[in-house]
Amino acid sequence: MSDGFVWFEGIPFPVVDFTPEHMREVQENFVFKDEDVLTLSFPKSGTNWLIEILSLIFSKGDPKWVQSVPIWERSPWLETMYGYKSLKDKEGPRFITSHVPIHLFPKSVFKSKAKVIYLIRNPRDILVSGYFFWIISNFVKKPESLEQYFEWFIQGNAKSYDSSKCARHCASNCAHKSEHNRGVPAFTEFVIHPLFLPSTPTHAVAFGSWFDHIRGWTSMKGKENFLILSYEELKQDTRSAVQKLCQFLGKKLEPEELNSVLKNSSFQVMKENKMSNYTLLRGWLLDQNNGSFLRKGISGDWKNYFTVAQAEVFDKIFQEKTADLPQELFPWE
Ligand code: A3P
Repeated sequence: MSDGFVWFEGIPFPVVDFTPEHMREVQENFVFKDEDVLTLSFPKSGTNWLIEILSLIFSKGDPKWVQSVPIWERSPWLETMYGYKSLKDKEGPRFITSHVPIHLFPKSVFKSKAKVIYLIRNPRDILVSGYFFWIISNFVKKPESLEQYFEWFIQGNAKSYDSSKCARHCASNCAHKSEHNRGVPAFTEFVIHPLFLPSTPTHAVAFGSWFDHIRGWTSMKGKENFLILSYEELKQDTRSAVQKLCQFLGKKLEPEELNSVLKNSSFQVMKENKMSNYTLLRGWLLDQNNGSFLRKGISGDWKNYFTVAQAEVFDKIFQEKTADLPQELFPWE
């Protein structure tokens, strides 16, 4: 972890509340239940906004829960030691959050009927949001400048799995053969073979490459218990997006309950709610004197930060890396 991350299977994780042994334990032993609700995202996609909305949907718009219990206790991050401990033996339906890429995720989720929501956001806004977040956080390596973080983000840190190279290698004599043969094909595709990982990464983004993350998780598109939602659609028409979520979750809200969900999950209300704005962690995990967790809450802020050259480079990389994916996944493009 000397480079500011905890590494597990070639992916960098934060240094607080993560160890490779713990990650292995979660991956191998966590059991999903059909009644669980799982929020998945790449960091800075609007995860906490979605958790707030889900909390309010399940409390039928009553804000008592979101005003009295910290957001990380309402829907703990499964991959953290704290989150895993509180979720493992919890009775009843559980709200669970995770940023873990699909190939490192507990396999039990693929056999369960747990409701899974994958939140996606324009990666340009994720990049800018991430830069301003990581420089006030004390649990990952801080970038020195936005230019530097731009490089880290677009390069990613783990080479994608190359099936032809891997097939040749595994056909001969590979200790990871069983790993490639395990599980459903949809995610064995994304096993990253140690052979193809850079030995000394010089750039890293917590939870790995955004491109690999979305490629992995969106391969679940079309499954009955899997919903893909975008930050942009939440922003553009929050009411319709919340109704879509209710339908997916089988929840019915009265009009005044829906209004309360919208009001209490709004940017301003969340920013003032100490159970949701992360000021409780000030001075320990976050230094919020130089910024805040709920920063701007808008779409398209990247335009205020990218140079023309960076915008061009990003467009090119985005097109190259997502050309074969369904373009409706990217409503901001
Ligand atoms: P910005 O930094 O662009 O403002 P995550 O929860 O995945 O870490 O994502 C954080 C991003 O979601 C931040 O983006 C934050 O401001 C935004 N966000 C959080 N709550 C929001 C809300 N109620 N409405 C809009 N954006 C929100």
